[in-house]
Amino acid sequence: MTLTELEAQCQKCKNCVLGETRTNLVFGAGVPNARVMFIGEGPGENEDLQGQPFVGRGGQFLDTMLKIINLDRCKNFYITNIVKCRPPKNRDPQESERAACMSWLRPQIELISPKIIVCLGRIAAMTLIKSDFKITREHGQVFEKDGIYYMAIYHPAALLRDPYKRPDTFEDLKALQELINSVCPEVYAG
Ligand code: URA
Repeated sequence: MTLTELEAQCQKCKNCVLGETRTNLVFGAGVPNARVMFIGEGPGENEDLQGQPFVGRGGQFLDTMLKIINLDRCKNFYITNIVKCRPPKNRDPQESERAACMSWLRPQIELISPKIIVCLGRIAAMTLIKSDFKITREHGQVFEKDGIYYMAIYHPAALLRDPYKRPDTFEDLKALQELINSVCPEVYAG
């Protein structure tokens, strides 16, 4: 199975109620064999309309921040979400919806085979790192599971809302850059 084949199957998904209300399913974007993967919570309005992850204000802010550490979704990372369809009114995706969508995210991660996964916000961190993850206390920390290094940073929407969180995220991104340099320096080679 290739990533393109997985996406073609996923595009038809009706495994949960979010499939009833989506305009477009948002599978993911970026480099298909990237060493670094960013995972958010779920598509918002702009993403639902365009079928692409993180293309609204938060996504543009994220792209600007990541450029500072030489990360570019066209060159060296892949980006997706825990749930592939927009939750109505941007509510948090429910546990059952997240669980249903893991049947797409799991093989997606296996096919991309990243060395580092960065969770964007609390929901992604609770789903992928540990269920009691506390973003205010544990952002920027590195967790290793099955040969993959995980880190969570504040969600870009939270950073837009609360500029006082930005210095912490700047430190987290510097830590991420160091992690990349030690685990997969080839990210910066090409
Ligand atoms: N917020 C997310 O978590 N994901 C997106 O794709 C857009 C906004």
